Amino acid sequence: MFDGYKKYIPFVPQPIENRTWPDKVVTQAPVWCSVDLRDGNQALVDPMNLKEKLDYFHTLVDIGVKEIEIGFPSASETEYEICRELIEGGHIPDDVTIQVLVQAREHLIKKTFEAIRGAKHVILHFYNSTSTLQRKVVFQMDTDGITKIATDAADLIYEMSQPLIQEGMDLRFEYSPESFMGTEMDYAVEICAAVLDHLHATAEDKVILNLPTTVENCMPNQFADMLEYFIRKLPGRERAIISLHPHNDRGTGVATTEMGLLAGAERVEATLFGNGERTGNVDMVTLAMNMYTQGIDPQLDFSHINAIRDMYERCTKMKVGERQPYVGELVFTAFSGSHQDAINKGFNYMEQSGSGKWEVPYLPIDPTDLGREYEPVRINSQSGKGGAAFIMHHKFGFDMPKEMHTEFGAVVQAETDRVGTELRPEAIYELFRKEYLDVNGPYRLIKHSFHEETAPDGTSAVTFTGTIQHKDTKFVVVGEGNGPIDAFFTAIHGQKMDRFTFVDYKSHAISMGSDSRAVAYIHLRDQSGRDVFGVGVDSNINLAPLKGILCAINRAVNR
Ligand code: KIV
Ligand code: ZN
Repeated sequence: MFDGYKKYIPFVPQPIENRTWPDKVVTQAPVWCSVDLRDGNQALVDPMNLKEKLDYFHTLVDIGVKEIEIGFPSASETEYEICRELIEGGHIPDDVTIQVLVQAREHLIKKTFEAIRGAKHVILHFYNSTSTLQRKVVFQMDTDGITKIATDAADLIYEMSQPLIQEGMDLRFEYSPESFMGTEMDYAVEICAAVLDHLHATAEDKVILNLPTTVENCMPNQFADMLEYFIRKLPGRERAIISLHPHNDRGTGVATTEMGLLAGAERVEATLFGNGERTGNVDMVTLAMNMYTQGIDPQLDFSHINAIRDMYERCTKMKVGERQPYVGELVFTAFSGSHQDAINKGFNYMEQSGSGKWEVPYLPIDPTDLGREYEPVRINSQSGKGGAAFIMHHKFGFDMPKEMHTEFGAVVQAETDRVGTELRPEAIYELFRKEYLDVNGPYRLIKHSFHEETAPDGTSAVTFTGTIQHKDTKFVVVGEGNGPIDAFFTAIHGQKMDRFTFVDYKSHAISMGSDSRAVAYIHLRDQSGRDVFGVGVDSNINLAPLKGILCAINRAVNR
């Protein structure tokens, strides 16, 4: 047995008594900060160029993100230039704050101050690593040394910021004890409190304390315990805005954030679709739309998610996965027959109940809220009869009677078995067209007329006269009935076509291109009790059912 797991040191949970977070619920959106252009960008194979960063920035603004970390301007000339272009090029709306990241190092801080000249609203975000592992392996320094790095930086930042603030810049500060999740909580409290002191934080002039899960190392509930403990112990907690910056190494970044919000966090740093170092940062879209589906306004607009995804893929050269929540290509599909039927019923139920509430099984959100469609159902060999009918109804407007679903479902099933792959809606329509709409023989109606007479008592009689062609033979039929269908059935009585009994009929209007037509579904039964359906489409509402009857008869004769 492979025993590689033995080399890992298990996470030691933070003891906490009377935790309160499990009883809370999220009731409002946090302050969102996008770190796409920094944490996301630095993790790309090819970091974004200026044009891509600008496109991305404008998309974030359109989504409604009010705090945007635009980069690490002291890290490279390109990063610096991008910061300057955003400021000088007038790209930053007045209600948006840009955030810039810098390590807690003097020369980098000085360069960062140069980079932000002229901006209206800025968050200066500085960090140093605090975890036991980083202290031991990277810095070989005790906690006092680590704290001094942070407080020296805080002093310099505070001092350099005063002239800018006096000139009118809205300049705020953010401190991250990087690798917070691997730091002893009592030490995390100590260093953060020292930084708050050195930045002269007050309840009016709060400092953002950003507590990163730099590398996710524990379960979300354990993280929430740490956070609740940290917040309880922090002296002057009202001086701080508690911010989260979760990464996703264990795949639980979203859960960590949600539980972190329960534990008292007020702000979240995230990226679109979870781009970022290694497994990424937490996904802002999932977080926001999770709130949305709980009836909470996320304060972000993802109602054109496909356009956002296209921009993201173009600028980052990354791909959004097919099953990525809310945006993945396949998330508004159902292949399984029982799911398809339930979804169908959900839509019908909502139409009937008119409650305006979303109650569709297997679809946690209305796809149109994201500018998407319930695709409708995707059809493969696992799909049931309801799926194909749903597509024909919702995509092409043919609302077949329920009794017909089985017959058409079998046609579709035979095709999925034959091709062995998924059938796109257009292919389903083609099957429907071939099976019902393109049936032209052996019986064809060449010409016809109706004559209607109404008696003094209000009853009316319809006479049908028509010429039908069967192969090379033409014959005239005449019949009378109380309506067009009845008259036609009487007319074909005595012909070979009369071994069918009429079971049912349904019709509705359908728009085809620019005009509106009638579609009729005819249900007949032959002498051996076999059901057969026909479909007729015509601009004349009387003719559509007759075409449907001939279609059903022809299909029965042909099979
Ligand atoms: O993940 C992290 O810890 C960071 C910090 C710089 C905030 O990105
Ligand atoms: Zn990060």
